[in-house]
Amino acid sequence: MFKNNSGVQQLFRELRDLKTTDELRMSEVLEKHASKVMSILDDSINNIDSVDITLELLHRTGASHKGYQGFTAELFWEIEQPFLDSVKLTLGDRYTDNMDSIYKITIKFILENLIKGMKNS
Ligand code: HEM
Repeated sequence: MFKNNSGVQQLFRELRDLKTTDELRMSEVLEKHASKVMSILDDSINNIDSVDITLELLHRTGASHKGYQGFTAELFWEIEQPFLDSVKLTLGDRYTDNMDSIYKITIKFILENLIKGMKNS
């Protein structure tokens, strides 16, 4: 995500001064942040049968981004392609066309509801 849009990195207070890809890779702050993001994605997908829980989590997380200076709701879309690329990389041969459609629908649903949560808060 940072590679595709360098302005995005500037939004992260503790990461904005890191210059190289190596510095980013070594950053504990980035690692902690990424694992929080992934655990919210994980909880959203695991609770999809009780959709109210998932929606509440996504709306709350979306709303929490309102406080981040310079962040606008549309910026959530910046993570769509990097997320799909990382799933593809992780699943390798198991990333079938069917998986591709499922993950595309899933991330779209997640991002639309993060955006909704931010806009309605
Ligand atoms: C799946 C999508 C996302 C989820 C679930 C998510 C979740 C979170 C969470 C849990 C935090 C708090 C982190 C902490 O306290 O360490 C956070 C902070 C933040 N997020 Fe997101 N996020 C997502 C996407 C994005 C995107 C795409 C951007 C930027 C384009 C972004 C920008 C930020 C910023 C600027 C902060 C504040 C970081 C700071 O303290 O400097 N988020 N996000």
